[in-house]
Amino acid sequence: MRPTPIIVTSGNGATALPEGVRVLRRGGSALDAVEACARYVEADVADTSVGTGGLPNILGVVELDASIVDGTAHRAGSVAALVGFGHPISVARAVMRRTPHVMLVGEGAARFAAETGAERARNLTPSTRRLWADALRQVGETPASVRRAKRLLPVVKRVIADRLGTVNFIALDRRGNVASAVTTSGWGYKYPGRVGDSPIIGAGNYCDSATGGACCTGYGELAMRLLTAKTAVDRLAAGLRPATVARRAIVDANRLADVPFNVIVLAKDGTHASATNRAGRRYAFMTSEMTGPAMRSRAAVRATRSTRSR
Ligand code: GLY
Repeated sequence: MRPTPIIVTSGNGATALPEGVRVLRRGGSALDAVEACARYVEADVADTSVGTGGLPNILGVVELDASIVDGTAHRAGSVAALVGFGHPISVARAVMRRTPHVMLVGEGAARFAAETGAERARNLTPSTRRLWADALRQVGETPASVRRAKRLLPVVKRVIADRLGTVNFIALDRRGNVASAVTTSGWGYKYPGRVGDSPIIGAGNYCDSATGGACCTGYGELAMRLLTAKTAVDRLAAGLRPATVARRAIVDANRLADVPFNVIVLAKDGTHASATNRAGRRYAFMTSEMTGPAMRSRAAVRATRSTRSR
């Protein structure tokens, strides 16, 4: 039996789901669906964790990370620390389609984006500029003082907090293809050049149409150290259910640190789950038969002293 097309996302992706489901309903691919959803959130200036309106690095520059995975052909594309373009997810897809590479970063990624006609954007909005200046002011700095600073690390350490947000999407189309996309402005007020898990294939994003997909949000450093998304897909392949796979991902993360971490999991049969180590977090999904997105609570798996390795 053919699966019912579905898209699963982090809570902040819910409003984008109708865009992607429209693609799936007309027989479009999972890959087109996740790109459409990611573009929708990238263009939303109210989301301070993604695309235009995303929080900048410590110098006030918005550096974007994104990746896309085709679970059928095992192709992937990603960009990291991309500056000056509004839709990193489409640049990541172009890396996948048009280059012999998987990942481009920084100046090379921006050069490629320009060369392939990607839309330019001023990603630092008046509102995020104000938030950045306020965050600096709270530690006795100003935009001018950090730009002059010889040593940025002490400033980053004083300013940086849990300002992590990201949006991710995993889709299953009517032909059984699974695709996944993740896009983010990364850790707000990060050290310039910091790259998180979102563009790292296997860390923040992975899928395989034979089994399913998994994507992470929260402290990307944990997903990079654990290869969380690939490990989750391997566990699906070993026969574990999405709910168990999601919980295990959080147990793994909790062993490293007690910092916010979340995962979504979609199996190839359309069953899905999500887990987190914080209370009150939600995720969303929508099938081609639904009239709108549905929100669900993520299963909470709290870190305890005994589960932490240090
Ligand atoms: N999970 C997003 C990041 O760490 O950049």
